[in-house]
Amino acid sequence: MPAPLNVAVVGATGLVGREFLKIAAERAFPIKGLRLLASHRSVGKKITYGEWEIEVEEATPKSFESVDLAFFSATTEVSKTLIPPAVKAGAVCIDDSSAWRMEEDVPLVVPEVNADDLNDHKGIVSIPNCPTTPLCHVLWPVHQKYELVRVIVDTYQSVSGTGAAAVRELTEQTRQVLDGNDTRPHVYPHQIAFNLLPQVDVFLGSGYTKEEWKIINETRKIMHEPELAISATCVRTPVFTGHSEAVHAEFARPITPEDFHETIKATAGIYVQDEPSVNMYPTPWAVAGRDETFVGRIRQDASHPMGIAFWLVSDNLRKGAALNAIQIAEEMIARNLI
Ligand SMILES: NC(=O)c1ccc[n+]([C@@H]2O[C@H](COP(=O)([O-])OP(=O)(O)OC[C@H]3O[C@@H](n4cnc5c(N)ncnc54)[C@H](OP(=O)(O)O)[C@@H]3O)[C@@H](O)[C@H]2O)c1
Repeated sequence: MPAPLNVAVVGATGLVGREFLKIAAERAFPIKGLRLLASHRSVGKKITYGEWEIEVEEATPKSFESVDLAFFSATTEVSKTLIPPAVKAGAVCIDDSSAWRMEEDVPLVVPEVNADDLNDHKGIVSIPNCPTTPLCHVLWPVHQKYELVRVIVDTYQSVSGTGAAAVRELTEQTRQVLDGNDTRPHVYPHQIAFNLLPQVDVFLGSGYTKEEWKIINETRKIMHEPELAISATCVRTPVFTGHSEAVHAEFARPITPEDFHETIKATAGIYVQDEPSVNMYPTPWAVAGRDETFVGRIRQDASHPMGIAFWLVSDNLRKGAALNAIQIAEEMIARNLI
């Protein structure tokens, strides 16, 4: 049994923070002290963890005395401001925001892909954006054998990826539309209920959105392939939980759908669900609450002899965020890095 740790969760009242606590309890993560932090709005709220009832405190630069491990899942601004004092106080910080992901000396980790990068950490480890994690999880073992040449990915992302306010917005708008009333968007630029938005996050000058650039740049960093040809279109869907992705991947060596299936099947945490004869493939409704990255619709790309097309679904709050963070912490404990 590893020595238990003093843990702080920043953003403990949010969707990812709460999922982190749920998964930590499920996996009996070794915790001897737990500090739950959020904004001033949540001070005094009580959250139950196992037998403990813990009062939420406001996150400040002084919150990290005696903390061994801090999980940050609040906002990019909070991570930018509070992680440096937390590291100075001696805490290893695992950050869910985009604040530090592309910094050269910050490992950006999916444990099944690049756990060795953790060895060089300097107090901060970032976890990738929620659609990037499952994409790398699936592509990595195939890349090892068949060498990726080009990836095109189209995402179908759920509203919980935007946080609790977006979940409320979809719920309220769905009721309003069914009642025949008008809707007024707050979180998204247009109505999300009964709609699709080909925009996730803000547009950058290039015509791509920030989310699309995150997938492109983070995938290259995680795989140590800075020149990888990769393009993305990210779409927000009226789904509560579970991000789906349609992926077209070209390889340098000949590959069949059977080769692809055999290769990913052997990878920890991947679940292949692919039987067209009985309409079997993963869907976000079925995958919500599950830890694995689910893959289906594996087929030869009709437009390229060495291309494979497939579909993947993962729970964005679990493998896309909190579970990946806990797996990183477990790996760091096993490697004596905390
Ligand atoms: N949702 C996903 O699938 C996903 C996946 C990967 C990464 N992420 C990232 O994870 C982070 C949180 O996402 P979420 O979905 O959990 O959002 P959320 O449900 O909106 O929760 C946000 C959390 O941040 C806290 N917070 C906001 N401002 C703060 C401040 N000034 N000081 C301290 N705490 C503050 C909130 O506290 P109050 O309750 O007090 O306001 C709340 O606990 C974001 O950086 C997001 O980009 C999310």
